[in-house]
Amino acid sequence: MENIDNYIAKSSKDYNNLYKESIKNPESFWEKIASTFSWKKKWNNVLSYDFNKPEFKWFEGGKLNITENCLDRHLIERADQTAILFEPNNPEEESKKISYKELHQKVCEFSNVLKNNKVKKGDRVCIYMPMVPELTVAVLACARVGAVHSVVFAGFSATALAARINDSQCKMLITADGSFRGNKTIALKEIADKALLDCKTIDTTIVLKRTGQKILMNPNEKWWHDEILKVDDSCPATEMDSEDMLFILYTSGSTGKPKGMVHSCGGYMIYTAYTFLNVFQYKPNDVYWCTADIGWITGHSYIVYGPLLCGATSVMFEGVPSYPNYDRFWNICEKHKITHFYTAPTAIRALAKHPLSFVQNSNLSSLKVLGSVGEPINEEAWNWYNVNIGKKKCPIVDTWWQTETGGIMLSSLAGITDQKPTFATKPMIGIQPVLLDSSGNEINEKNKDGILAIKFPWPSIARTIYGDHNRYKNVYFSAYPGYYFPGDGALIDNENNYRITGRVDDVVIVSGHNLGTAPIEDAINQHPNVVESAVIGYPHEIKGNALRAFVILMKPEDNIQIKDEIKALVSKTIGPIAKPDIIQIVPGLPKTRSGKIMRRILRKIASDEIDNIGDVSTLLNPEVVDQIINDSNI
Ligand code: WT7
Repeated sequence: MENIDNYIAKSSKDYNNLYKESIKNPESFWEKIASTFSWKKKWNNVLSYDFNKPEFKWFEGGKLNITENCLDRHLIERADQTAILFEPNNPEEESKKISYKELHQKVCEFSNVLKNNKVKKGDRVCIYMPMVPELTVAVLACARVGAVHSVVFAGFSATALAARINDSQCKMLITADGSFRGNKTIALKEIADKALLDCKTIDTTIVLKRTGQKILMNPNEKWWHDEILKVDDSCPATEMDSEDMLFILYTSGSTGKPKGMVHSCGGYMIYTAYTFLNVFQYKPNDVYWCTADIGWITGHSYIVYGPLLCGATSVMFEGVPSYPNYDRFWNICEKHKITHFYTAPTAIRALAKHPLSFVQNSNLSSLKVLGSVGEPINEEAWNWYNVNIGKKKCPIVDTWWQTETGGIMLSSLAGITDQKPTFATKPMIGIQPVLLDSSGNEINEKNKDGILAIKFPWPSIARTIYGDHNRYKNVYFSAYPGYYFPGDGALIDNENNYRITGRVDDVVIVSGHNLGTAPIEDAINQHPNVVESAVIGYPHEIKGNALRAFVILMKPEDNIQIKDEIKALVSKTIGPIAKPDIIQIVPGLPKTRSGKIMRRILRKIASDEIDNIGDVSTLLNPEVVDQIINDSNI
């Protein structure tokens, strides 16, 4: 088997050569990368695709199991090396090192638990768990038996959890009694109980004991620790086709219903591993920490699959950056001699608000590479990160990608290609981005805002939206036929560096979380006194964007109580992350003559750009604009 290291860029010249090769001859290029993994049977065809259907197939006919690549194949060289380094919420509790051998055993055991409970290849399994090693075990066990995992972030509400379970008809739920988060405990099982009242498809629930809090166990609910006693630790990996489903991960969109993005086995495997090594330049014995939650794609691709595929040591942190104090991240960096630290701009901005002494008390000399993900990083935050954390000696990779892309699409390669603050810089090897004007023509003009699109398939592109291929086609492939349309704007500078300029649709990135405004409006509109609402994002110092809701009431009563009720409703329906920062009761919403809400105007009001609102005369109700502006100092 060839070594993947032969294809990792070690200089900017390497990057240029590999990039050129990958564009000139994508199929033979990716075939070489794929050949560095372990397959049970070789593929018949590297790539077949059709942007109109849309359909993308990579390595069809190739048989594999991704967990053999994450675990079994490392047992020869690095059985005793730490695979998962677990840092608990409470610093008093001991951290745990789980070697590749141990992780392999645990995954095999839990795979047998799944089988004992009648989980079969193709069944969907929902995972709603805290950031503990068993979450990784559950994910990999699903993959090992060929079940499709659907991890739901443990901050989501019962309603949101139920909607996701029902959308993909999950057969099993894996959860925990509770989770620790800072100085709070969250009653995960209680939330799950509420969700399950509305779910008909779950046959069995497996419950991990984490907090020890009192919970109700119903007849089909079993303790993880009891189930484990019934099995041994040998479990052959189920043979999967490269194009079989590996997982579903929900992301929000412009309509109320979350989109279950489907990723498949082979392409996702090679792309996450290949980008992990190129972007982070991970070397043996490095200790890599991505602070995301496995409930998001960042955790799937760059805590679990990418690092484990490459035999890395990947840190899992259960807690929050502010507990017990604002120095927690830096204490952990010192404690575990972290070499690679990958986080979100919102965390950097929040921590930068606190005295520098929180940073200075920790020895950060082990750090080699810093990363940023989830939203644009502003120059101030970039500089703070560079100076205070990286001590100006660590390259910063600003990685642009999405749940839908599976892996990093634009980024510099740490220490190999040039970085530039606020620019994600260059396409990954194999990625062909373009900028389009609003009519869909490719533009080459420098420093001019355009619509980002990708004109050739890559191995980890999401294959469909679970149960709704039409929506997949409409959202990503219809606005600009022949391209994948991610929903972001971008520009390129004179050196062809890409800078992401923000969303061009109704998705708002709040603290790095992708939130559709429509589902939040749907939640608000459930309030008996609400007639209609419009939610928009506005720039926020720490969160990047925050949400402001403009709400029309049946019986106008502008008071705190109704605002609290609306916030509680959003929290209950979606989760606390979706709560608007500002709720403004308005007499009406600006509308076009066809009745469409003019969000552009609301965005300007919320961003304090009222001098720049533009022509409102074509509105159905131009007078409300002034009313909204006059009332907006609340
Ligand atoms: C959206 C995708 C990437 C995994 C986590 C978020 C925004 C993401 C960057 C970046 C500017 C970014 C985009 C993208 N975004 N990374 N480095 N610079 N914007 O995944 O929840 O699917 O959100 O996050 O708007 O489309 P997601």
